Amino acid sequence: MKNTLLSIFLLGSITLSAQTSTSKITIHADQGKDIISKEIYGQFAEHLGTCIYGGIWVGENSSIPNIKGYRTDVFNALKELQIPVLRWPGGCFADEYHWMDGIGPKEKRPKMVNNNWGGVVENNSFGTNEFFNLCEMLGTEPYLSGNVGSGTVEEMAKWVEYITSAGDSPMARLRRQNGRENPWHLKYMGVGNESWGCGGNMTPNYYSDLYRRYSTYCRDYDGNKLYKIASGASDYHYKWTETLMSNVGNRMDGLSLHYYTCKGWRGSKGSATKFDKDDYLWTMTKCLEIEDVIKKHISIMDKYDPQRKVGLMVDEWGTWWDQEPGSHPGFLYQQNTMRDAFVAALSLNIFNKYPERIKMANIAQVVNVLQAMILTNDSKVVLTPTYHIFNMYKVHMGATYLPIDIQCDSLAWKDKKFAAINASASKDVNNKIHITLANIDTDKDQKIEIDLGTAKISKATGTILTAKTIDAYNTFDSPNVVVPAVFKETKAVKNILTITVPAKAIVSLELI
Ligand code: AHR
Repeated sequence: MKNTLLSIFLLGSITLSAQTSTSKITIHADQGKDIISKEIYGQFAEHLGTCIYGGIWVGENSSIPNIKGYRTDVFNALKELQIPVLRWPGGCFADEYHWMDGIGPKEKRPKMVNNNWGGVVENNSFGTNEFFNLCEMLGTEPYLSGNVGSGTVEEMAKWVEYITSAGDSPMARLRRQNGRENPWHLKYMGVGNESWGCGGNMTPNYYSDLYRRYSTYCRDYDGNKLYKIASGASDYHYKWTETLMSNVGNRMDGLSLHYYTCKGWRGSKGSATKFDKDDYLWTMTKCLEIEDVIKKHISIMDKYDPQRKVGLMVDEWGTWWDQEPGSHPGFLYQQNTMRDAFVAALSLNIFNKYPERIKMANIAQVVNVLQAMILTNDSKVVLTPTYHIFNMYKVHMGATYLPIDIQCDSLAWKDKKFAAINASASKDVNNKIHITLANIDTDKDQKIEIDLGTAKISKATGTILTAKTIDAYNTFDSPNVVVPAVFKETKAVKNILTITVPAKAIVSLELI
C-alpha cells in the first residue's frame, strides 16, 4: 500500500511538463464492421530458461505456494489477464520435443538436453497433461506447436489423437491410463516452428510439401475441429509467404509471422534498462515498422486468398534485449521498462487495425523470457509494465474495430518520421467505446480533442501508465515503480472528448 501511494505521488508529479502540444483524433464510431480477434492478446510459453520451470510450474511439493503444481501468484496474475490463447512448448524447443517423453508417471519420464536453450537438462515433468490442465484452469485456448524438424508424422498424428480422441482409440486409452478420461479441447495446431531456421533449416518449397503431409494426419476427432497453422516467415522474408500461399493455400487455416523489436542477431542487442533517447526513438521506429511488414505479407496473402480465409498469426513478437547481467546467456531473461510498455501498446494498436486478416498474436514470452508479463525469482514475483498494458488493453478483445484518424506532431529517429500519438478504438458487445492511446513523446504533454462523430458521450473513465523516466521498471524489491493509476484528465461535451495525456504515457479510456 505504501508503495502504491508513493508511485501515485510520483505519477502525479510527472504529469506536469513544460510543453503541451495539441492534437486531434477522429473516431468513426459508425463505421465499425470487423471484430478484433481476442487471440491477438495471446501469450507464448516455451521450455526456455525459467519460463516453465520456476516461472509457471514448481510442482506440488514445492515450498512456493502452488495450485496443483502451478505457482499461485503467477496463476492468479494470468487469470486476471484473461489470456485468450497460450502457445506451447516452443519456439525452437518444439522441433526437438518428443511429447511421449512428457506423459505418464513423472519418475519414469526420460530426461533430455535442451539443446536450444543453454544445454540444461529437461526432466519433462511439465508435459501434455500439465499444459492442457493449465489451459483448462485458466480458461484459455491451447495452441500446440508440433515437431516437424525432428519428429515424425506418426508422432504428431498420435499427439492430436492423445489429446482429442474420445473413442476407444489407442492414444485415448493411453490418455485414460494417465488419469484423464475425457479428451481436452484443441483448436490451434501449429505444424512446425521457424522451419526456415531452428525448425529444420528448410527451403519454403520443401517445408510446403512437409506441411501438406504432416497436416493431413492431424485429424479432427469426435467433434474437435483443428485450426491448422503453418510455420511462416520472419520479418521481411516475403518469399516464404509467397511460396506457402502458392503451394499450400487453403490447406492451412493460418500462416504465422515472427517479428522482434531487436537490433539483429549478431553482437549486442542493447541493454534492457540502460538506454538513451536515441535508443528509445530507434526502438519506436523498429516497433512501428511491423505495420509495413504486416501490410506486405497481407498483400501477398490477398493475391492468393482474396476472401481472407487464411489468418495471419503473429505468433512471436516483442522486444529482445541482452540478457540481464549475471543471468544465464541461454535463458533470455530480461528486464522490462516503460520503453517495453510502449512497444506492447503500439504493437497491439497495430494488430487491432487489421482485424480481417490478423487472427492471433502471441507476445514472447509470458514469464521470465524476453518481453515477459511476469518475472519471478524463487518465491518472489513482479509484474512488468508490459503486464499492465495487456491488462489495460484487454477491453479490445472480441470488440468491433473502429477506424480512427490522427492529426498530431511528428517525432523522428534519423530520417524516419512517425506520429507522436498512437491509438486504437473499439466498441464492445455492450456498445461501450474503448480507446487506447500512447503519447510517445518523452517531453511534451498532448492536449487531444477526440471527435466521436455521431456517438454522444457523457463522461470517460480511464487508466494511465507512466513513470518518472522512460527507463523506469519494477523490481522484486520495488514492484510499484510503474503501475497503472486512475486517469482523470478528461472533459466530455456532446460528441467531443478533450483529454490531456502527459509525456511518455499510455492511457486506456472507456466512454460512457
Ligand atoms: O522466443 C524465443 C525464440 O525466438 C523462439 O524459440 C524461436 O521461435 C525464435 O527464434
